[in-house]
Order: sequence, then C-alpha cells, then structure tokens
Amino acid sequence: MDLTKIKKEIEAELQKLKTDADCSTFHQKYLGKSGEVTRLVQGLRDIDPSKRASVGAALNELKKSTEERLFSLQNEIKDKEFKNKLMQDKLVDITIPEIHKKQGTLHPITLITSEVEEVFASMGFIIEDGPEIATEFECFESVNIPKNHPARDMQDTFWLNDGRVLRTHTSAWQNHMMKKYGPTFRAICPGRCFRNEAIDASHENTFFQVEGMMIGEDISISNLVYFMQEALTAVFKKNIKVRLRPSYYSFVEPGFDLDASCIFCDDSRSEPSQSDGVTTSKGCNICKHSTWIEFCGCGMIHPNVLEMGGIDHKKYQGFAFGFGLTRLAMMRYGIDEIRLFNSGNLEFLKGVPQ
Ligand code: DAH
Repeated sequence: MDLTKIKKEIEAELQKLKTDADCSTFHQKYLGKSGEVTRLVQGLRDIDPSKRASVGAALNELKKSTEERLFSLQNEIKDKEFKNKLMQDKLVDITIPEIHKKQGTLHPITLITSEVEEVFASMGFIIEDGPEIATEFECFESVNIPKNHPARDMQDTFWLNDGRVLRTHTSAWQNHMMKKYGPTFRAICPGRCFRNEAIDASHENTFFQVEGMMIGEDISISNLVYFMQEALTAVFKKNIKVRLRPSYYSFVEPGFDLDASCIFCDDSRSEPSQSDGVTTSKGCNICKHSTWIEFCGCGMIHPNVLEMGGIDHKKYQGFAFGFGLTRLAMMRYGIDEIRLFNSGNLEFLKGVPQ
C-alpha cells in the first residue's frame, strides 16, 4: 500500500478547494462511505498481520489529518461565502465596528408596552395594533361622540385636510375590534395618540395609550376590577388595590375613573383607605397623602357602542378601559418630565433600567 502517493494526491486536491460544494465532493471522494481513504482502512484486514498495526496507525493518522484539514478549510470557505453574500446585501453594513453594534438601549415606552402586552396576553387578551390616523367615525361617532357633542371638546384634535384625524385616543380602534372578533373576545390595543395641547412637564401632544375591551355574555364590573388589579400587580411587582369613582366617558355607562393604591408608598406605613379623607399620617407626597393614584378611565361599554360594533347589547355586555402608557412609564421609572420621552436625549434613554 503506497501511502505516500495518496498523501500527495490529497494535499494537491485540498489546495484546489474553492467552494463549499468542492469540499463536499472532496469529502465524498476520500472520506465518504466508499471514499478512497475509507476503502484503504477497510482493506486493512487483507494485509499481512505483521504490518497491520503500523499501516493501520499510519492510515488512521492520514484519515484524521485529512478530516481536520478539510473541516477547517470548509469553515473558512463558508465564512467567506457568507460574508460575500452579506456584502452584496444593501441592507447590511458589515463594516460597522463591533463596538457600535452593542450600543443603544430600548426606549422606556417600548419596554413598558412589551411588559403590558405580556401581562395581558398571559390573561388571554389578543394584542391588536390600530392605525395612528383614524376616520372621524372611528375616533368619535363609533364611540358615542356625535358631531357637535360637548364631549368632543375634551380632546383637542389634529385634523388632516381629508377630514381624517390623528387619533386622540386608542378608543378609536374599539369599533374595529368588535367587528373583527364578534361578541365574545378580550383584546388590548396599545399605540401612539395625539392631541393638540399646550406642552408642559406633564402634557405632550404625542403620547401612548393602551385600550382594553372584554365582551361576553356575563361580563360585569367585577371582571373589570379583577383584571385591572391583576395587571397592575404584575406590572408593578407589588400588591396593588384598585377602586372606582363615578366619572363620565361617552363610550361607557356606567363610567369610572379607576384609582390604584399608591405604588410609591411604603406598605408598612400606609394602608389605602376607602375614604377620601386626607390625613398626613398616611401615604406619601406623590399620592398627596391619599394613598391612591388616579390611573385610568373605564366602564361598562355603552349599548350604542356595542350596536355600532355589530353586537347585540341585550345579549352581550363588556367592559372597556384606556390608560396612558406614557404615564405608566413615568410612574414605573420615576420620570417626572414628559417632554423627555420624545426628546431623543441619549442620557435619558441610557438611564432607564433595561
Ligand atoms: N379614551 C379615554 C381617553 O383618552 C380613555 C378611556 C376612558 C378609555 C374610559 C376607555 C374607557 O375605554 O372606558 O381619555
């Protein structure tokens, strides 16, 4: 058996490998099931027993070194092929140094939105995504705010030339959700909203909300209280209590403002009280010693709204709620200046725990 000859041949062939496909052909030719090296190993049984051990050792060595050379070449070739492919992709810039790729953090709104989505999804809510431009019907009529109704004055609106609006609230997607999912569903719709407002530390013309709806045959206010309490407890990782105060929103009847027990208060010193009595021994500065923080609007969906969504209000009921994600992010991360959110200020973005 002339091993020197085959070693030379293998070396020459290895030098010629240019593509991944060449490597596969080489593997088949020498190391595959009926490859030349494999056949030599199989032929060992026919050679003189006195030489078998030494020839066997040399053959094994040849097999091992050929495999090693081939695999390392193949990796290099694959890597090159991959980079060449990326070079031709207009969307990828592989010349950006590694250090820059690692920079950057998620925006607090992105973080809080995915947290809220996760919490509601775990309770069976569908996550919906509505458009930022809405028709007048979606934004107002469909949620029981007819033309010339004073409730329209509660939301300063950006109007487009074609009569559509930048949605003033995520409630603009309620009608669509009802038509899409029918009379029994639960869904949330987070997103950006716009109001033509004077800007200060707590008012922005661009902010984020999340809308929630649950409709079915036996839905009551208890369900609303339960889901809000569970969701807030999960988001704040702290036992949160909620209470409802009567309020007016045209799309719900009865309508409420929902308060959450203050997340900033030290639990051991402050038990939320059911009365509105302001006592300085309880609470903290943020909740103005009331132990409650106003959190969102909510209520039982108005029969007109259900009907406009194609749902029989005599058979089905539901609750709806809408809260500010921007406000939630401010509470969660202790941010007291709303203008920072849209400022593009890197120091602010880096300061939010990821
Ligand atoms: N759309 C209201 C707003 O932007 C918030 C809201 C209140 C949503 C009550 C609701 C609700 O679904 O039931 O001020």
